Amino acid sequence: MVLVTGGAGYIGSHVVKALGEAGHEVVVYDNLSTGHKWALLHGELVKGDVRDVEGLDRVFSRHRVEAVLHFAAHIVVPESVRQPLKYYINNVGGSLSLLESMKRHGVRRFIFSSSAAVYGVPDEIPVTEGARLEPINPYGQTKAVVEKALADMACAGDLEYVALRYFNVAGADPQARIGEGKEDATHIITMCVRTAAGLRPHLEVFGTDYPTPDGTCIRDYIHVEDLARAHVLALEHLLAGGESRVYNCGYSRGFSVLEVVEAAKRVTGVDFPVKYSGRREGDHPVLVANAAKLKAELGFIPRYDNLEYIIETAWRWEKERIKKLASIP
Ligand code: UFG
Repeated sequence: MVLVTGGAGYIGSHVVKALGEAGHEVVVYDNLSTGHKWALLHGELVKGDVRDVEGLDRVFSRHRVEAVLHFAAHIVVPESVRQPLKYYINNVGGSLSLLESMKRHGVRRFIFSSSAAVYGVPDEIPVTEGARLEPINPYGQTKAVVEKALADMACAGDLEYVALRYFNVAGADPQARIGEGKEDATHIITMCVRTAAGLRPHLEVFGTDYPTPDGTCIRDYIHVEDLARAHVLALEHLLAGGESRVYNCGYSRGFSVLEVVEAAKRVTGVDFPVKYSGRREGDHPVLVANAAKLKAELGFIPRYDNLEYIIETAWRWEKERIKKLASIP
């Protein structure tokens, strides 16, 4: 049995699906603040908050948990700049109470949703896992702090962990059963498909004066299904007795915001309006992964390394989501 915190959220729910397909039993622990019950295609749901130590203790007492995958966290970079305490309390505090509860119950394997935001502005692109961690926003800081706690605990012999540093996760279940469900989502590909669907008047491009060829930020977009399979590989590595590891999760290829917008217009067939604005607080100019280590060590083979396909699955899901919303009385 594996415990998945935040398993009803966007990334968590795709991982739960992948775990089910790989034959793992799952219990999901989620407070449903941003997640949805309908997103669970597998496993049992326990409603609870990661800061609730008693709630966590109950789950560990009732289930024989072999490993924990921890997704429950706040994830919006600009919000973290405006409300840092909210991020430290949930992302750091929640992770620590979870680790404490695991230690009490003798659970030693941990998979952590980390982020490329831990790198800040890397000296070299594509960035490797060995680069210095110098986050430039509170969100990235919270992920770096938890990684440090994990490294210290592993050193002390308390646990074995895999930290997966996600680059920009996007797309949805190819069968459009699950996908980004947050009404107030902020990520660029979701914004593009929602604008194409007519839910927003225009797509806003934040910053056109970055030191990049077209002046907009560059990111490495990874399909959520591929990312989910990376988690299954990480879990199997730990269950087989593997040692603690840190991996970048991306495709080692960067696209600018304008390239994403153009691709979204092509895929959706909608020439949606675009507005050019100033820079958004906390944004990294360029983040592209060197993802060789994940491939070499865990045998990860990307299936959906294609920006248009990523957008196409997000678009398919968005149209389903709109139908789903319309059918709720
Ligand atoms: N952007 C826009 N308009 C929008 C939304 C985003 O121009 O409406 C731009 C942003 O300014 C940024 C780029 O699109 O330049 C990507 O922004 P996202 O909000 O989609 O994602 P972030 O890069 O801010 O954050 C994501 C994850 C982080 C991770 C980071 C780095 O949420 O966990 O990618 O890879 F750290």
